[in-house]
Amino acid sequence: MAVRVDLNISLDGFATTTDQTPEAPFGEDWPRLVAAYAATRTVRERVFKDTTGAGTTGVDDQYAKAYFANVGAEIIGAGMFGLHNFPDDPNWRGWWGEEPPFRVPVFVLTHKRRPSIEMAGGTTFHFLNAAPAEALRQAVAAAGGKDVRIGGGASVARDFLKAGLVDSLHVAIAPILLGRGIRLWDDLRGLEAGYMVKAETAESGTVHLTFHR
Ligand SMILES: NC(=O)c1ccc[n+]([C@@H]2O[C@H](COP(=O)([O-])OP(=O)(O)OC[C@H]3O[C@@H](n4cnc5c(N)ncnc54)[C@H](OP(=O)(O)O)[C@@H]3O)[C@@H](O)[C@H]2O)c1
Repeated sequence: MAVRVDLNISLDGFATTTDQTPEAPFGEDWPRLVAAYAATRTVRERVFKDTTGAGTTGVDDQYAKAYFANVGAEIIGAGMFGLHNFPDDPNWRGWWGEEPPFRVPVFVLTHKRRPSIEMAGGTTFHFLNAAPAEALRQAVAAAGGKDVRIGGGASVARDFLKAGLVDSLHVAIAPILLGRGIRLWDDLRGLEAGYMVKAETAESGTVHLTFHR
């Protein structure tokens, strides 16, 4: 099994902006950042439930397919789950509807205690206050020999990279400049050591950069 991170970042290295509000929960630039990924046939089907077969089928879609393949458990942060936008709503069940695209146990790192939520399609959200290594131990145990994905957001992905816990990092670098937000690469000097690096450019202009141990 491998521990994987898979993120969309801008040319200037930002994985998210910080302008989210309850009224605009993804921030103004989110559609620009994930445009190529969201346009793929795989994401249209799996995330947006579009079964018409619409969507791109080139290099971006190959990476989107790989994104969902062989993942047995996922770890995400409170920000990605939406707890920072809806902190006082005990009924908040995430962004992804009643049948989220994960289809595996998802461990949501948060300092607030919450009961687990079982969703349709195989996704269960467990809420966990634990250091990255301990969260990973629990996710590995739940993953049944498959990979564990550190799904994001930006801070959680950086924490796992910083702790040296990631075997495979794929960044889809969108050809846009955000100019603000949380930069994936901050405080990760020398991260590339010990990884083999591969780059591939998609029709959309997105550069897919992969670091494998
Ligand atoms: N670019 C991409 O591909 C991509 C992918 C996924 C998400 N995102 C974006 O990333 C943004 C969220 O990122 P973010 O950096 O703001 O937040 P985040 O990484 O999702 O979550 C960080 C929060 O998780 C909790 N946390 C982290 N480590 C913890 C630990 N060890 N124990 C307990 N709690 C812990 C803390 O929240 P509390 O203290 O409040 O509990 C912390 O503030 C969203 O806007 C999302 O859209 C981008």
